[in-house]
Amino acid sequence: METDVITIDGPTSSGKNSVGFLLAQKLGYQYIDSGSIYRAGCIFVLRNNIDPYETQKVVEIFKNLKIDIKNDNGSFKVIANNEDVTDILHSSDVTKIVPVVAAIKEVREAAKPIKWDLSKIKNTVMTGRDIGSEIFPDAKHKFYLTADVNIRAKRRFEQLFKKDPSIKYEQVLKDMEDRDKKDTEREVSPLRIPDGAAVIDNSHLTVEQTVEEMLKHIKGNVIASD
Ligand code: C5P
Repeated sequence: METDVITIDGPTSSGKNSVGFLLAQKLGYQYIDSGSIYRAGCIFVLRNNIDPYETQKVVEIFKNLKIDIKNDNGSFKVIANNEDVTDILHSSDVTKIVPVVAAIKEVREAAKPIKWDLSKIKNTVMTGRDIGSEIFPDAKHKFYLTADVNIRAKRRFEQLFKKDPSIKYEQVLKDMEDRDKKDTEREVSPLRIPDGAAVIDNSHLTVEQTVEEMLKHIKGNVIASD
């Protein structure tokens, strides 16, 4: 049976992950954060002391990358090459190199079948930068989430501050602007609003309110979950 895929794209800290996770829970779908595929590959790039600009070596890592995603009991776990890497996906070393690595054409090619294969397991909500544009251009429900850059930086700052109270808001804002720039200006699969996507600016919406808004678009059109 063909599975249904709901796509959510958008810039850093636009709420894709919290919103995608809750939407998936409400619909009984699995949730796949495609950014975690690039992040997981980066963990192995770093471990092998590969410079992110050494394209061929980076591509080899991604060609051999095995990803399994588990949504058990309300949690999101990423198993890469048989190792649970969930807790280290968002380390600052990974965050620093991921937009460089994700801009490599062959890395994106290697990530495509991983995204397609994961979506075949069950009806899926998938978040990322190219999901509605390149990976599932024919998806029935596509969303593009966005929010004011200062609000996104504040959200990110609040998350990071819990782990590292020495972090500065100005630095978080600058890093976010740099990452947005790399993701939107890269040649291969740049972040853009996919054709046919509903755009939701959630600057002043909670996660719940954003999901409610999305459900209004989806209502009456969702394939029953198995
Ligand atoms: O969503 P997250 O911030 O974890 O994604 C990390 C990085 O992975 C993004 O900055 C982007 O460079 C890349 N990415 C991508 N395409 C996707 C998902 C993520 O290029 N579908």
